[in-house]
Amino acid sequence: MEEKALLELLEEAKKAALNAYSPYSGYKVGAALLGKSGKVYTGCNVENATYSLTICAERNAVFNAVNQAEREYRAIAIWVEANQSFPPCGACRQVLYEFSPHMVLIWGSYGGHQMSTLDKLLPGAFVLEPSKDN
Ligand code: THU
Repeated sequence: MEEKALLELLEEAKKAALNAYSPYSGYKVGAALLGKSGKVYTGCNVENATYSLTICAERNAVFNAVNQAEREYRAIAIWVEANQSFPPCGACRQVLYEFSPHMVLIWGSYGGHQMSTLDKLLPGAFVLEPSKDN
């Protein structure tokens, strides 16, 4: 994918970060997932007083897409309202891998951005042969 298109996706992720609910960590994260159809699905992190119930922006974006019947993705952009950015956590990498193992990733913050692909970020991913076509 062209860098220009990825930077546009990162702008969508930045907008999504405005909705983050993160009173405990203070981290506002937004994700924008580009489906093969060309449609963009967003998500933000949603924290909880029971900390372990917190869900990351990336997984919310994937679940948003699956709920709208899109299961194959070209790219995901992740924005954090901070000066340092990070690629998705291990749990989110695994969830993304389920649907599009070769997708492109861009992550950024006010400090700059970086890009990679999911197969590079999650070598040796856990996979199961689906037993049913649904
Ligand atoms: N977070 C994300 O939204 N995505 C990640 O890939 C890592 C962490 C959120 C979860 C939590 O609300 C905050 O960042 C600090 O962990």
